[in-house]
Amino acid sequence: MSIQARRHEDVGIFDGFPVQPPNELDTLRQAIEHRLGHWLNPDAARADLLNADLLNAAMRAAALGAGKRMRPLLVMLVARDLGCTSPALVDVACAVELVHAASLILDDMPCMDNALLRRGRPTVHVQFGEDVTILAAIALLSRAFGILAAAQDVPPAVRARLVARLAETVGTQGLVQGQYLDLRGNRGTENDIAVTNELKTGVLLGVAVDMAAIVAQAEDTVAASLRAFALAAGHAFQLRDDFLDVAGNDSAVTGKDTGKDAHKATLINAVGQDEARRRLALHLHDAERHLADALGPRPDTRRFVDGLFGRVAAGAPN
Ligand code: IPE
Ligand code: IPE
Ligand code: MG
Ligand code: MG
Ligand code: MG
Repeated sequence: MSIQARRHEDVGIFDGFPVQPPNELDTLRQAIEHRLGHWLNPDAARADLLNADLLNAAMRAAALGAGKRMRPLLVMLVARDLGCTSPALVDVACAVELVHAASLILDDMPCMDNALLRRGRPTVHVQFGEDVTILAAIALLSRAFGILAAAQDVPPAVRARLVARLAETVGTQGLVQGQYLDLRGNRGTENDIAVTNELKTGVLLGVAVDMAAIVAQAEDTVAASLRAFALAAGHAFQLRDDFLDVAGNDSAVTGKDTGKDAHKATLINAVGQDEARRRLALHLHDAERHLADALGPRPDTRRFVDGLFGRVAAGAPN
């Protein structure tokens, strides 16, 4: 079933949908896991320092857990749909995933969402302490930039563009600003909620497709449609994440704390579940339209997004 075919009030009702042939997605996922492991290998030169590996262990716990790898898979699939198979893509994908991992471990800290469970395991600050968690997040972010700056088979000017795009995505035009709004600046209006969701979630999807387009040297119009796709998908994704949080969902199923958003400025709290479900369907419809504009009938990215939201609609494990 396509995204469009699910454009009904009944998003959230699960039925059959075509997912990527499993071995194809698995191959991409394995390439990402393998490369993430490479970038987070313990530094042998530090092995003799007392407890020095705690920081590395926290970084590994943050990044190598059972995540969906949605952002790095988007990098790889969009690039492939654009006809690009540069060996640099897996590193670009890792850089995005490391930023995501850093954002999650900070998001879970007691001063933020105060969460105890992530990806089915105790959160990183519960395992390693808040001090190590902050340092691990900074280290993950700087590793992400280092990976991009050193990307193989990419001309220096392109590397500089990738670094600049990731920097604006993390900073006050992106994720950090979104998290600030989520915690302190959101007045609960629909517009504030939309801006918050775009910045805390949409921009990282945006940079994933944008960097794929940069490496693939896509036309500006294609890159613009991809960004529009990512922003619509970001709204849909944060909404479905907010649905996972609502009462009745089980942490054993979602892999993370639930009921955290009860007093937060979320769209579900602002407009109610029925209307939020309708908005989710509309965002998915927009996402599909922009994706078709960008990539035409090439199916890899679309099948992945279909599968992701179909699975999510079922309340499948996070
Ligand atoms: C969770 O992202 C944070 C949000 C932006 C909603 P994911 O749902 O992609 O988390 P993992 O990586 O699969 O654990
Ligand atoms: C996403 O929002 C925040 C990030 C950018 C990390 P949430 O706070 O709702 O994400 P979860 O539910 O903890 O994964
Ligand atoms: Mg949060
Ligand atoms: Mg959270
Ligand atoms: Mg959430």
